[in-house]
Amino acid sequence: MSRVALVTGGTRGIGAAISKALKEKGYKVAASYAGNDEAAQKFKDETGIPVFKWDVSSFEACGEGIKQVEAEVGPIEVLVNNAGITKDAMLHRMKPEQWNAVINTNLGSLFNMCRQVIEGMRARKFGRIINISSINGQKGQMGQTNYSAAKAGELGFTKALAQESAKAGITVNAICPGYINTEMVQAVPKDVLEKSILPLIPIGRLGEPEEIARCVVFLAADDAGLLTGATISANGGQYFH
Ligand code: CAA
Repeated sequence: MSRVALVTGGTRGIGAAISKALKEKGYKVAASYAGNDEAAQKFKDETGIPVFKWDVSSFEACGEGIKQVEAEVGPIEVLVNNAGITKDAMLHRMKPEQWNAVINTNLGSLFNMCRQVIEGMRARKFGRIINISSINGQKGQMGQTNYSAAKAGELGFTKALAQESAKAGITVNAICPGYINTEMVQAVPKDVLEKSILPLIPIGRLGEPEEIARCVVFLAADDAGLLTGATISANGGQYFH
């Protein structure tokens, strides 16, 4: 029987590529999204993947959403925590709302989601949790004290939960994408992208969402049980960690 996978932020950008790649591999996929109804509807029409709307920064909303996914699609066996936002600003200009939104959405969501699927995975003795962190959690990034802190936090969370879950047949891994060709990166000021970021990427180009999706497919596989607590860097050689 095909396994059930839930991808948060799974209707756009890297998340959409992950949802599609898992579906192609035979998973029953559900994709959550936070706010862009139009993009979610288009994604659903194009892929046939069911979409569910909730805010991953809310524990209660995650509980309700997961309940709905499990009722309609099945118990979640593969969880991809991909949803994330940026609110870039130098710290000397950063507002508390920019800090809180990024920490709660990017890092808080890992607790909100994992806490509510982990008991089921432990009972079934199988699970794959894949957290989409970032190169900027590994190396730090000016303008992103909030985002870098959240993404680095995801790596600690991953390693701790991997240890807790190993005996229950659950693997927990992180992927650190570099700069990927998505709306999030296109939102970086053009001159900063061209002058300060692109020249630092040895392969000489942005990554593509599908190149992250293939890492997820690899980690999600039933025969990937030896790999846990790992961080996979997929950044075109920009940073080795
Ligand atoms: N790398 C190197 N230098 C950077 C930089 C970066 N990513 N971002 C900004 N700078 C430099 C600018 O080139 C500029 O240098 P000069 O003074 O020599 O011209 C200096 O920092 C100040 O920048 P701004 O004039 O733009 O200052 P600002 O206060 O208006 O804005 C900022 C600062 C918010 C950091 C803005 O520059 C910005 O948004 N930068 C991009 C930050 C970034 O890389 N975000 C990643 C988003 S994508 C993502 O997060 C996905 C992922 O996981 C990789």
